[in-house]
Amino acid sequence: MIRQPIVAIMGHVDHGKTLLLDKIRGTAVAAKEHGGITQAIGASIIPIDTIKKVCGNLLSNIKVTIPGLLFVDTPGHAAFNSLRKRGGNLADIAILVVDVNEGFKPQTIESMEILKAFKTPFIIAANKIDLISGWRPDKGPILKKISEQNDQVQQELDKKIYEVVGKVYEMSLEAERFDRVSDYTKQIAIVPTSAVTGDGIPELLMVLTGLAQKFLEKRLQVDIKKAAQGTVLEVKEERGLGKTMDTIIYNGSLKVGDNIVVGGMAGPISAKVKALFLPAPLAEMREKRTKFKSVKEVHAANGVKIVAPGTEDVVSGMPLKGAGDDLEKAKEEVQSEVKEVLTEATSKEGIIVKADSLGSLEALAVLLKEKDIPIQKASVGVITKRDLSDAEANYEKDPLRAVILGFNIPMPENVPEHVKVIAHPVIYKVIEDYEEWVEKTKKDMELAAMGVLTKPCKVKLLKGYVFRQNNPAVVGIEVITGTLTNNIRLMNPDGKVLTGVKGMQQEQKNIESAERGKQVAISLPDVTVGRQIKEGDILYSFISEDDFRKFKEYKQYLTDEEKDLLKEIAEIMRRNNPVWGV
Ligand code: GTP
Ligand code: MG
Repeated sequence: MIRQPIVAIMGHVDHGKTLLLDKIRGTAVAAKEHGGITQAIGASIIPIDTIKKVCGNLLSNIKVTIPGLLFVDTPGHAAFNSLRKRGGNLADIAILVVDVNEGFKPQTIESMEILKAFKTPFIIAANKIDLISGWRPDKGPILKKISEQNDQVQQELDKKIYEVVGKVYEMSLEAERFDRVSDYTKQIAIVPTSAVTGDGIPELLMVLTGLAQKFLEKRLQVDIKKAAQGTVLEVKEERGLGKTMDTIIYNGSLKVGDNIVVGGMAGPISAKVKALFLPAPLAEMREKRTKFKSVKEVHAANGVKIVAPGTEDVVSGMPLKGAGDDLEKAKEEVQSEVKEVLTEATSKEGIIVKADSLGSLEALAVLLKEKDIPIQKASVGVITKRDLSDAEANYEKDPLRAVILGFNIPMPENVPEHVKVIAHPVIYKVIEDYEEWVEKTKKDMELAAMGVLTKPCKVKLLKGYVFRQNNPAVVGIEVITGTLTNNIRLMNPDGKVLTGVKGMQQEQKNIESAERGKQVAISLPDVTVGRQIKEGDILYSFISEDDFRKFKEYKQYLTDEEKDLLKEIAEIMRRNNPVWGV
């Protein structure tokens, strides 16, 4: 049997996901007198007859065998929390909703990155076209409507669609207006829509149905005699029912009385289904003042509210399985799926990541992997004391690993001094902030490392400023370039180390360093003026090969003057050793 494809509606906050789904539903209701839709928990099912009716002859040359479409709405700030199943996205196909007037926004990009990573096919609804100044809604197919708008409106719409095409291209994919798509396996179809006027809805359904029919048939094969397979979308407290699990069943059937197993962070959770609920039809809702109607059985694909005592600790995104007659096997399978997400993401050395659900954790892990950011520990839930101390322990090994990324979870209290916590409800922001932090921390570390290197310096012994001949010699010098620091060694232009600076004074005050142009008195043991050094001599700071190589590494923090001086010093050293510092 073929089930309905699960269609996720994704995109940035307020771009019109919910209203678009409402309009699809409304259009479906209008097409079929008695509401051509079935309400499911967290989803709506539109049967194929209704879709055919809405699409009219748009679908006439496609042989359709799918029984309909099952739409799942996702709020813009939590698109991936629970839309997961083993090996990828719970959704078989997605609609990425973009407000054409606003264009791509962080969550649009984030949605696309996840769809890309999970290889979920999708189409783009270029929504809110009715807000284009001068737009006149009209009856008929969208392409005809567009061609009947005045030139300015047509140009504006084309411009906006090409902006979308451009953004998609920036993410290494191709997109085109749906009627200009030549190859659906290579190009993403863009359908202009308005969730207010209904413009483009039939075309949107047509493209979705066509794509699902053509490319998804295999994936949609189900066996409703099998034990159920599903994903928990949300765990909710309902009055009179207690904790319930809103679940999408994507394979098999689930009955009241069935034993089920749900994945848990601390091991599989098994329970017995006490009741199953679907949303009550509108009339019934009014009559009985209840939102739900109890059912004995559901089969794929459907969304259902499950009451099963003992599942109170379940978090969203967890896999759910009917146990059939082998509870132990079901437990093993479910838990290996959870472990897969947790361990596949992790390596020996890396950072710590936390998220509010298995789905969001998986999404974050997938995106981090694409960026080659290793994860040491991944788990679902708030950031604990243990996480903080693990991160603190990492600081000793590598300060860049003393970080915890949190997706859709609150900031913890009492964060230790060396630990960085980045928590945000948008994955994209989590990663962006992390990358910024890495940049900054690296720079700080490099600057700190550079601080301990001997600074390059060139000084000249001033004429007439010999204060003491020897033991130690005390002379006046001028810093020609670089910075002279106390306690460094000095060499002559032949590369011979003669002495070291043991004390510096300026206007009778002890100082630790002097920049270019400064004239100071320095004290030099082990030399006698007139023998190893004399007035007018040039001396350089002695730079070790190691320090020189480090300077080369941190070149970006050096001034041009410092770079030139280092080059000069290297030339001196290379007269004796041609490979010095290379
Ligand atoms: P979240 O669930 O918060 O992520 O938002 P959403 O994407 O579901 O957006 P929603 O459907 O709630 O729409 C947001 C606002 O945009 C509402 O005020 C809608 O009335 C409006 N809106 C949505 N689609 C259209 C459209 O096509 N045209 C116009 N003019 N307004 C629209
Ligand atoms: Mg919404």
